[in-house]
Amino acid sequence: MRITVLGSAAGGGFPQWNCNCRNCAGVRSGTVRARPRTQSSIFVLPDEGADGVLFNASPDILEQIRSRPALQPARALRDSAIAGVVLMDGQVDHATGLFMLRERKGALPLWCTDPVEEDLTEGNPILRVLGHYCGVDRHRIPLDGSAFAIPGVADLEFRALPLSSKAAPYSPHREQPVDGDNIGMLMLDRASGRRVFYAPGLGQITPAVFDAMAGADCVLVDGTFWTDDEMPRMGLSAKTARDIGHLPQSGPGGMLEWLAKLPAGTRRMLIHINNTNPILDEDSAERAQLQHAGVEVCEDGMQIHL
Ligand code: MLT
Ligand code: MN
Ligand code: ZN
Repeated sequence: MRITVLGSAAGGGFPQWNCNCRNCAGVRSGTVRARPRTQSSIFVLPDEGADGVLFNASPDILEQIRSRPALQPARALRDSAIAGVVLMDGQVDHATGLFMLRERKGALPLWCTDPVEEDLTEGNPILRVLGHYCGVDRHRIPLDGSAFAIPGVADLEFRALPLSSKAAPYSPHREQPVDGDNIGMLMLDRASGRRVFYAPGLGQITPAVFDAMAGADCVLVDGTFWTDDEMPRMGLSAKTARDIGHLPQSGPGGMLEWLAKLPAGTRRMLIHINNTNPILDEDSAERAQLQHAGVEVCEDGMQIHL
């Protein structure tokens, strides 16, 4: 399986347009050693073949496609390597890029859960708007752990896991979560037998989530915040990481403790990193701590070959 990290930042990207926090101001002025990042998305290809699956359609999708030639194999006058789009939730950073895929002949093949389809039809009616352009060929992501496949991407098998995180602010489930507001995805390449677990928004590690992580060769998990009170402490928001569905990396019960429990050979990677997170600064103590723990920080353009 071949994974390209298209966008490794959380909503807002890095630097965020209106932000002058230490990281954002520092990456703009060159005083902090960090790389700019676009918003949360990965592209997954099997070992053989040119067509793959886009996970999330970020507001930065056009820039992401332009900078990764593998997404445009140019086999025809109009072409794309994107055989299907899979959404992990219905939030702005994961869904609004769908608008940018409207110039196509056939309906856009889209996999999402029922609650996400509802949010993207009612609260933020992207799918209804797309009905006036290419239309959407929507497939339901099952939540019972059964495997599904995506036509054109033989060899890859997908299983979704409902996660405790957060639905978008325009969802009726924002404060009354239902299964399927947010999912994690376990992907298996049947040819190589290699497995990846992907969960860019993950608020709680339940036994089922830990089992999925422990069974994977590589985990790409929520790297949004270093501390639970990162935003309140900086005066940027009253909400903690956990309030908005993200498990912080540090502290008791944090992501680092869980990652340390995985089998020794597991590749551990953080993705969906908020612009306030000190791990973005390559010279920070927090980044050194990750390195010591064998945890990688995703960056745009990173290729993961398993
Ligand atoms: C989140 O992951 O918490 C949201 O996507 C943030 C946002 O984009 O507004
Ligand atoms: Mn997000
Ligand atoms: Zn910032």
